[in-house]
Amino acid sequence: MLNNSEWKPVRKAVFPVAGMGTRFLPATKVMPKEMLPLVDRPLIQHAMEEAKAAGIEEFIFVTGRQKEMLEEHFDYQPELQRTLEARGKTDLLEKVRESELSESQLFLTRQARPLGLGHAIWCARKLVGNEPFAVLLPDDVILSDTPCMKQMIHQYNQTGGNMLAVMDVPLEDTSKYGVLDVESDDGTIAKVKGMVEKPAPEDAPSTLSVIGRYILQPQIFDQLSKFETGAGGEIQLTDAIAKFIGNQPLNGFRYKGQRYDCGSREGFIEANIAFSLQDPVIGESVRNMVQKYAQQVQTKVA
Ligand code: G1P
Repeated sequence: MLNNSEWKPVRKAVFPVAGMGTRFLPATKVMPKEMLPLVDRPLIQHAMEEAKAAGIEEFIFVTGRQKEMLEEHFDYQPELQRTLEARGKTDLLEKVRESELSESQLFLTRQARPLGLGHAIWCARKLVGNEPFAVLLPDDVILSDTPCMKQMIHQYNQTGGNMLAVMDVPLEDTSKYGVLDVESDDGTIAKVKGMVEKPAPEDAPSTLSVIGRYILQPQIFDQLSKFETGAGGEIQLTDAIAKFIGNQPLNGFRYKGQRYDCGSREGFIEANIAFSLQDPVIGESVRNMVQKYAQQVQTKVA
């Protein structure tokens, strides 16, 4: 195994965005689910900004049919900028600029067939090349003081290897996640000796589960190239990562923050409430709104 100082730094991030988003139909009939707005920015921009804050330099999107809007979103829009400038809307102009990625930052590839998350990551192999990379699933949004990927890269710089963001889930929910078989756990880092994708509660080795943030070594592409299928008949990223246990360190990282599953309607609504409560402009009125509804609910119960 390599010494800690020999692990290469993480400069690239992969965003798999080819998924259908059926849970939000008909909203996602034409619009990609990653464009759903969390307060005032689409989900995909939250993921992009998290990666940017972690020092990521290259942003690789694995897209598919009907996802053109995503690349448009990160593009430079001179007309819009001129209009905002002419009207003196400097705050909005600043917000628009924050949504841009330049030609040296943005890279695109396509996943033509829905063969699973492992397959989506494999589609990015040429753009990633022979270096470690981050993966961010935009459905998982994390509210935290320090962006989750920044916390992970900080940790990775000390431990190297493969790293997964993890949290404990209720036992009845293990079938929604990749679940860890833990060798040792110091409260922040859980050393992993095995991993199962979406086990039934009675088969789950623990309740410590993977959420959509990974740091992976490039050797994963050799494994993914075998196109081995797992849970649900899909090429699973979890299975490919598990193959390296014993050859490369595999650590679950308990990040500090609150994760919202924006792939579900309830999670998406809760995230909108939580993020808007933090907003300097609308936070106060959202707080009043939430209190109003809480009172209505209590009156009904009483
Ligand atoms: C994917 C992964 C799973 C992980 C989850 C986190 O599942 O396959 O291991 O726990 O993301 O959100 P999906 O939610 O895409 O079915």
